[in-house]
Amino acid sequence: MKLLIDDANLEKIGKMMEYYPCDGVTTNPSILAKEGKEPYAQLKAIRSLIGNDMELHVQVVSLTAEEMVIEAEKITEILGKNTYIKVPSVPEGIKAMKMLKEKGFNITATAIYTAQQAYLAAKAGADYVAPYINRIDNLGADGVETAKTIQNILENNDLPTEILAASFKNSQQVLSLCEYGVGAATAAPDIIEGLLKNPTVTAAVDAFVADFEKAFGEGKTMLN
Ligand code: E4P
Repeated sequence: MKLLIDDANLEKIGKMMEYYPCDGVTTNPSILAKEGKEPYAQLKAIRSLIGNDMELHVQVVSLTAEEMVIEAEKITEILGKNTYIKVPSVPEGIKAMKMLKEKGFNITATAIYTAQQAYLAAKAGADYVAPYINRIDNLGADGVETAKTIQNILENNDLPTEILAASFKNSQQVLSLCEYGVGAATAAPDIIEGLLKNPTVTAAVDAFVADFEKAFGEGKTMLN
């Protein structure tokens, strides 16, 4: 399962890329708004931080299919070929996906709350469908189960589309989908860090160092 960073903050992205095996960055209009910078300036900075080969997902904001396509053209021209155009899975968006598919764009169908939306977006040519796990939970449904249903639909219909699961509230949700074999997940830095955060592990590592230093001297490592 690919793991992407759902954030537009350069410092946080830099740290995630340095420490963890991440495969790219996803943004949305709200995430970009939080940074308070001119959107293309921020996205260009993200692109140069992660390099040209990594996936960068950028959402269109227009409300008609025709304008979404024009936005997609500008986004891809400025940010390069490994850019995925996030298109909301509403009627105009599905229409835009069909048009974008014909033109060869990379498409991420976003704002997915139901398997029905995912089915239509996949049929329209989306490369990824992005179910919003936590937001689905907040509606009283089950986000992880919805993503699993979508995975079954894609596999049973031989659709080449992959899941890019999004909107997580905890790291275990990410792992559940990894176990199920979905294509990708995008998560905020704290959720990615949560995959490793465990006081028992920290205590075990501290005890190894303490035992070693007690026997061989303070500051002693296998280097000195
Ligand atoms: C990704 O496609 C979504 O934009 C994002 O993950 C939504 O996350 P949120 O529900 O935490 O806002």
